[in-house]
Amino acid sequence: MRVIVTESFDQSCEIAARIIGDVVRNKPDSRLGLATGGTAAAIYPFLIRDYEEGKLDFSKVSSINLDEYVGLNPDHPQSYRYFMDHNFFDFVNIDRKNTYVVSGVGDLEKNVAEFQQKVLEKPVDIQLLGIGENGHIGFNEPGDTLKLSVHIEILDESTIEANSRFFNDKNEVPKKAITMGVGDILRAKRIVLVATGKKKAKAIRGLILGDELDCSNPSTVLKVHPNVTVIIDRELADMAGYKA
Ligand code: PGA
Repeated sequence: MRVIVTESFDQSCEIAARIIGDVVRNKPDSRLGLATGGTAAAIYPFLIRDYEEGKLDFSKVSSINLDEYVGLNPDHPQSYRYFMDHNFFDFVNIDRKNTYVVSGVGDLEKNVAEFQQKVLEKPVDIQLLGIGENGHIGFNEPGDTLKLSVHIEILDESTIEANSRFFNDKNEVPKKAITMGVGDILRAKRIVLVATGKKKAKAIRGLILGDELDCSNPSTVLKVHPNVTVIIDRELADMAGYKA
């Protein structure tokens, strides 16, 4: 695992975007594994900037997203399909039909099966990840065990609390989500995880310092992957007790 310590969250995001951009430049028909949330929202503007400056071309790129809330229509402003359209896809030349965000409404069993099939179709060239305060990746929440494949996850109280900042009211936060399993995430050829903020310090410490796979910190599964880059700012590195 490679850990990059930056001077600021903004710099972390720019570096993550450069890593993703380099993958696309080297392989124009790359398949990107994409993420949502506050961290991802700060990374996409750098990719959009490079596209606008003619440094990146997404015309042959395809994408698949980690997860989606159960119960939100794709046009709901807090759905992850809406997030992707409004934070990234609308601003670059990616072909919308080459993007995939599982639907969180309708026949959920069918959606899970379709999502799993999409995951297995071909590996992603690079997976972008955030991390939850509780160590979740995608929506794989801590528990006695972790699921390898696509499934419906009941969200942790801490996740609902953290994500309530995006909703008018905590009660509006969906209680469930469809997510890739940790095995699906580990299929990516390369993974880049970005984190900031003191609330993430414990999860990051377990990820970058510990020597254990720990189901109470799902991100620790990334330790077994051969090509993971974790990007954190100095403030978080200090709080996590990481010495570069
Ligand atoms: P955040 O979410 O970027 O909004 O903190 C990350 C995550 O929960 O994976």
